[in-house]
Amino acid sequence: MSLSNADLGKTAKPIMRVLAGDTLERPPIWLMRQAGRYLPEYRAVRAEAGSFLDLCYSPKKAAEVTLQPIRRFGFDAAILFSDILVVPHAMGQTVTFVEGEGPRLSPPLDSAGCDNIGAVDLARLDPVFEAIGLIKTQLPAETALLGFCGAPWTVASYMIAGQGSRDLETVRLFAYRHPEAFGRLMDKIVEGSARYLAAQVKAGVDAVQIFDSWASVLPPAQFKAWCVDPMRRLVAEFRRLAPGVPVIGFPREAGGNLAAYCRDVPVECLGVGTADNIVQLRKIIGNSLPVQGNLDPLALVAGGRSLDESVAGILSDFAGKPHIFNLGHGILPHTPIAHVERLVALVRG
Ligand code: CP3
Repeated sequence: MSLSNADLGKTAKPIMRVLAGDTLERPPIWLMRQAGRYLPEYRAVRAEAGSFLDLCYSPKKAAEVTLQPIRRFGFDAAILFSDILVVPHAMGQTVTFVEGEGPRLSPPLDSAGCDNIGAVDLARLDPVFEAIGLIKTQLPAETALLGFCGAPWTVASYMIAGQGSRDLETVRLFAYRHPEAFGRLMDKIVEGSARYLAAQVKAGVDAVQIFDSWASVLPPAQFKAWCVDPMRRLVAEFRRLAPGVPVIGFPREAGGNLAAYCRDVPVECLGVGTADNIVQLRKIIGNSLPVQGNLDPLALVAGGRSLDESVAGILSDFAGKPHIFNLGHGILPHTPIAHVERLVALVRG
């Protein structure tokens, strides 16, 4: 691996130290979707911005909402405010977010669409890189800035179904029926995502996370072909373009397939979902790979004893090994702010 742990370990940022393999006395903490609707200050900026994509492509507003949870809670990492679906947008698909219904991509890709869709046009993502520059000027020195993209499988699932779908029936059937067209689409997503992540690094992010939100639905052979192999190629290309930058892989709730992911995708940190069993997983992957996760977002909504006991359980399960505290999935809009404050206090001791 090109990454020098010794170099990374010297930086003061706690997240970067864990990504370099250090075990800290208290794990650093950030939350997936930490900039979002549970914050009144986010809702205020969101209301001014117009559409959700307008918010993502307004450098000042995107920088502002990225920094809001850092100011309020002092998390150890800020995550760039954007969305994984800006990649299909930069490939030429129309992307909209329907209030209460989630994303819509049009036209949904058929075989011809997979061939005709363009490569990622990085110029369309300039506002994202500009936002990163603005965030960097205002971020505390000890706070890491994370960039991200979606994993090819998860991104392709939205491009082909045109929306989110239960059990990913549309994309799974498409990939079985049209393996060549599907493969050509995956190649374009892999290549474009690696360039996009490298451009985020050039703009100033410290590390990147790759979200595979829908990694949980596949049999082992398809998990290897549609999740692991494209991820391995993406990470390899990213490393070539941006050597030495840590990658957090998040194959959410991949369960029995997590071991294959850890073996074949060379990430510096494994993100685990709410239902993933870290104690069993450690028996397979050993104790040295940093792991990020995995509080149930609903335990955070519930608060009280459920929250206290869940946090204590995670701190004990992950103790003595490199760990970044996080949720197992994004924070929910109805999460009380007082519960997030309590969480940070519990984790920091
Ligand atoms: O974590 C962060 O704070 C950074 C910002 C971020 C967003 N989306 C902002 C967002 C990140 C890292 C994402 C990733 C993302 N987007 C994923 C992977 C992680 C996951 O949650 O599984 C996926 C699958 C998407 C696609 C997406 N974007 C969906 C399905 C939705 C609608 C669901 C919803 O909550 O409404 C979005 C919209 C979205 N992305 C919102 C935010 C804050 C809510 C939209 C709004 O504020 O109006």
